[in-house]
Amino acid sequence: MSIHARLNAAQQRLKDTLGLNSREARLEARLLLQDILGVNHAWLLSHENDALEDQAGIAFQSLLTRRLSGEPMAHILGRREFFGLDLGVTANTLIPRPDTETLVEAALQRIPQNAPCKVLDLGTGTGAIALAIASRRPHAEVLAVDFSETALQVAIDNAARLGISNVRFLQSNWFSGVAGQIFDIIVSNPPYIAAGDIHLTRGDLRFEPLSALVSGDDGLDDIWHIIAATPQHLNQNGWLLLEHGYDQAERVAGLMRQHHFLEIGHTKDLAQIPRVTFGQFNRQ
Ligand SMILES: C[S@@+](CC[C@H](N)C(=O)[O-])C[C@H]1O[C@@H](n2cnc3c(N)ncnc32)[C@H](O)[C@@H]1O
Repeated sequence: MSIHARLNAAQQRLKDTLGLNSREARLEARLLLQDILGVNHAWLLSHENDALEDQAGIAFQSLLTRRLSGEPMAHILGRREFFGLDLGVTANTLIPRPDTETLVEAALQRIPQNAPCKVLDLGTGTGAIALAIASRRPHAEVLAVDFSETALQVAIDNAARLGISNVRFLQSNWFSGVAGQIFDIIVSNPPYIAAGDIHLTRGDLRFEPLSALVSGDDGLDDIWHIIAATPQHLNQNGWLLLEHGYDQAERVAGLMRQHHFLEIGHTKDLAQIPRVTFGQFNRQ
């Protein structure tokens, strides 16, 4: 069977089984086959009429079966692209989401291009946010913390592989490991899903660590903790930027108001939903 025919058949199965649209199904089939063959898109396009060798066909079928059972693409491939960075991903980390790039962009607007700036990323997972910021702001000094040792190791490996050296990593339960330290910018994409939320039983979330997703009965426990503790760790006029759930923007803004933040605002995700709330710290 030709590569073209194998891709068509896989695309159809992905559509039928996972309910993907044609474009998504084609992309996934192609990425799985590229991974098996160790080739890029251009190579695949120019060899579509070649026959797929038996060994490669078996390996492709095996990856396809895993995907058809619902396993996330990022776990099967072991990586995910985020803000132009190729990040290693494991079952111990959240899979970086395109929506989180909105948080990175909002943070970059507040970090100078050519001057030092101390940035803290709380709950770094794969290191996605910290590494994206550090790669675009070489003068920034970024500290990335997570309480999961296994997630931190993934982030450390990502930094080393990408050659990004202005990030340090620390195991810490939120601020516990940074007592006495003050930052100019604090960013976080903390767990914010309510325990028992139906979304936890669907899609990629089923395969991701609950400790990266769930935060109390209303999803706001960690956000509440971070906002309350941030004033001890932020310079006057420093910024806190938090990603949160689709229906939490007003409550997060309210918590920031209670803790002396001004200039509170939101940025929207790719679906035009306010998913990042930011505020500037004012000690007065
Ligand atoms: C939603 S994930 C975000 C991962 C990554 N920043 C991203 O955007 O892809 C939340 C992260 O917070 C970490 N985390 C949860 N509770 C924590 C705590 N008490 N202290 C530090 N990190 C924590 C989890 O291990 C997880 O890596």
